[in-house]
Order: sequence, then C-alpha cells, then structure tokens
Amino acid sequence: MRKQIVAGNWKMNNDLSETETLLNDLKKQVIPENVSVLVAPTFTNLYAAFNSVIDHPIEVVAQNMHQAKNGAYTGEVSAQMLQSVGVKTVILGHSERRAYFHETNALLAEKVTAALENEMTAIFCFGEELEDRKSGNHFELVASQLKEGLFHIAEADWKQIVLAYEPVWAIGTGETASPEQAQEMHAFVRKTIAEAYSESVATNVSILYGGSVKPANASEIFGKPDVDGGLIGGAALNAESFMGIVNAFE
Ligand code: G3P
Repeated sequence: MRKQIVAGNWKMNNDLSETETLLNDLKKQVIPENVSVLVAPTFTNLYAAFNSVIDHPIEVVAQNMHQAKNGAYTGEVSAQMLQSVGVKTVILGHSERRAYFHETNALLAEKVTAALENEMTAIFCFGEELEDRKSGNHFELVASQLKEGLFHIAEADWKQIVLAYEPVWAIGTGETASPEQAQEMHAFVRKTIAEAYSESVATNVSILYGGSVKPANASEIFGKPDVDGGLIGGAALNAESFMGIVNAFE
C-alpha cells in the first residue's frame, strides 16, 4: 500500500506568530491514521514549527535546499542545516523555483543527490505549462523533467522519493486539473518509471497532485487509482480547509 500524503506548501507565507497559530489550530484536529500530513513553513520558522509538533503526527518539511554541504552560498540552506532543526523531508523542483529562480533539471538532479546522500526524503515536483498541454507536449515535457532531474538515482533510492505532479496552469489559479487529467498523467508517470526502473518501483512510489486542490474537489481527485494525495498551496494556510483535504480520502 502506497503512503497517502497531504502536504501543505505554505510558500512565502506565515511569520512566526502566524506559524504557531496555524499549527496550534491543526494540532487540535484528529489526524487520520491512514494519511501522512506534512507542512512546509518558511526556513525562518522551521525550528519553531518542528518543536511545536514534535509530539504530534504532523511532520515539518522544507520547501527547498541547496545542494552544497556548506560554504560561500549567501542566502542558502543546506541539507545538514535542515536536519539540525529536525527536518528530514524537502520539496524540490517546485514550479516557482524553476520559474523564478531558474532551477533547471540538471540543478535539481544535484539537489536530489544531495538530499539522498543526507538520507532525506525528497518530494520531487514536476508539471507542464499551459502551452505544453495545449500543444500536446505535456507528456514529453514531464518525461524530460523526470529523466533529467530524477532518473539518475539508484532503484534502492526510490524509497526516499515522493513525486508531486503540479500542472503549472493549475497552481494558484482555481483551474484545477480534472480528476481524469490528474489520473492520466499519474498513470503515464508510473509507466515511465516502470520502463526506466521496474514495476515495483513504479507501483510503490507515492504520486501527489498539486494545483488548486480544495476540500470540494479533493475527494474525487484522491479517489483516482494513481493519485496518492496532494501538495496543497492556498488551502493549506487555513486549518479548516487543509483538514477538509486531509479528510478527503475515502
Ligand atoms: O505546492 C503546491 C502549490 O503549488 C499548489 O498551490 O494554491 O494551487 O494549491 P495551490
């Protein structure tokens, strides 16, 4: 049984006080045992967030990391630094990192390697732009993101990988991919992994969908056979809406 995961990507939102308030609201909720619930605060709030949920099922994860062990990289944060504040999972390759900070597949391959070498779990994000989908190029684009950014890893490393399909045109737009569109891409990704690795790897990796997931649409999306949960942006900033998504699994 693949892990069912709902991860809240808070992006550049919530100062320390807002982080503590949201986590306190979430801690009042009953977390279903069949769902792994993750939250990704900003770097400045990771330590406080980790300590706030240290005895709670919610896991605190990072939104990004640098591939270097340490050194002259002003403004960056390494895997070891994340681990020193209790973080063991990192989101890599989010479309906003790719778009605004020019993170290429080659750079992400380095980041994935660094995460694995530090025994971290990587939530590897990928997804097409609207023009890719309109031109029918979305499968080819996603395949290239996976092959260039992730398929250098060994078969044994896949136990430290979670995938997140985030069609860029659905992020923050309210234009959620249909459950059928999500299922079609997730099934394509599993087929691509099976061809490059094995059926076992393809079957066992959790693939999350991200892009305007809300309590109203989560159940239908999560009900698709190759969808194992969601990577949530806006709806993760409110405890009630985030828990509405967490509780969307049948
Ligand atoms: O990483 C998740 C995020 O990109 C999705 O954002 O606001 O469309 O749920 P949103």
